[in-house]
Amino acid sequence: MRLADGKAWTHTEMTALLARLDEEPMLRTQLRKLAARTKMERYGKGVFLRGLIEFSSICRQDCMYCGLRASNKHADRYRLRPEEILACCAEGYELGYRTFVLQSGEDVWFTTARLSKLIREIKSRFADVAVTLSIGERDDETYERLFEAGADRFLLRHETASPRLYAKLHPTMTIESRRSRLLALQRIGFQIGAGCMVGLPGQTNSELADDLVYLHSLNPDMIGIGPFLPHSNTPLRDATQGSMEKALDMISLSRLVAPDALIPASTAMGTIHPQGREKALQAGANVVMPNLSPLAVRPKYAIYENKICLGDESAQCRHCLELRIRGAGFEVDMGRGDSLRVQRQF
Ligand code: SAM
Ligand code: SF4
Ligand code: FES
Repeated sequence: MRLADGKAWTHTEMTALLARLDEEPMLRTQLRKLAARTKMERYGKGVFLRGLIEFSSICRQDCMYCGLRASNKHADRYRLRPEEILACCAEGYELGYRTFVLQSGEDVWFTTARLSKLIREIKSRFADVAVTLSIGERDDETYERLFEAGADRFLLRHETASPRLYAKLHPTMTIESRRSRLLALQRIGFQIGAGCMVGLPGQTNSELADDLVYLHSLNPDMIGIGPFLPHSNTPLRDATQGSMEKALDMISLSRLVAPDALIPASTAMGTIHPQGREKALQAGANVVMPNLSPLAVRPKYAIYENKICLGDESAQCRHCLELRIRGAGFEVDMGRGDSLRVQRQF
């Protein structure tokens, strides 16, 4: 795989580098600086803000790590009505957001027709916004209709590129299907987001190198990386959480294997460490996704525990993040923030 500086790395070399980073703090610092410089060269100082609306916690899948898995009978489920989702968008629009990320469990109440209607409504009320979907796996025809309705982007993390680990963690899904969905979304014309969790139980450096090789070959517009965080009502309740440093290494390496990507400083990074998102920005990330969901439902979207911002109004998060972004040495960019690949087409 070829990095941003043109250097070619084999899978074996990348595995060895991931191991060395744990032993050599100086090397880690160098990697973060290189990733930050690469981000600056491509995107400058701006950090894009996206308004995240978690619109349903109902899920038909059973991912072993996730608090929303269908088998979690303790989960307090909710589903926002389309009018409530539109109200979140209106509040977000007032606060200046120009991208809305609509995320949910795999909730089949939201049929192709209902989702298309919602997307058309958002695009007609707020003409200059981008709509990102993060709703899991659907068939080609559904994805095509959602794209026609005006959805611009789609986040579907590949979760792990290791067939062994993927099979262990996803009793109701296959790695082949996940990969075929990402390719379908890309073919249809979405800006696609892939990405993985770091520190999954039993995950090796070689398997993290698999993730980087996969990301390099897919070349997605967005890459979501975050530490695995255990949830007590899942089979992985006793597993150790992922390491923040390792997650930061993966953010930096993702920046180098896919230099044009938009990379969020995820909520999981902010949950694992109070300055996790700032550190992610300094390690090559350039997006943050503050929560626009209604306060009453936020605690119910518990994919992992101790999630941040559960009690904070959307306006507070907006303000807090602005201070954090500036404090970390960057600037807030409230534009649509399309990926460089797409910007070059215009
Ligand atoms: N259901 C959709 C899907 O799976 O693509 C979107 C929502 S899902 C909650 C969004 C992301 O949350 C997943 O892609 C996964 O990487 C992450 N996630 C779920 N459980 C997690 C956990 N325990 N720790 C860290 N991230 C987790
Ligand atoms: Fe459902 Fe997504 Fe959680 Fe898997 S990660 S259980 S698909 S919400
Ligand atoms: Fe929500 Fe800081 S980002 S309060």
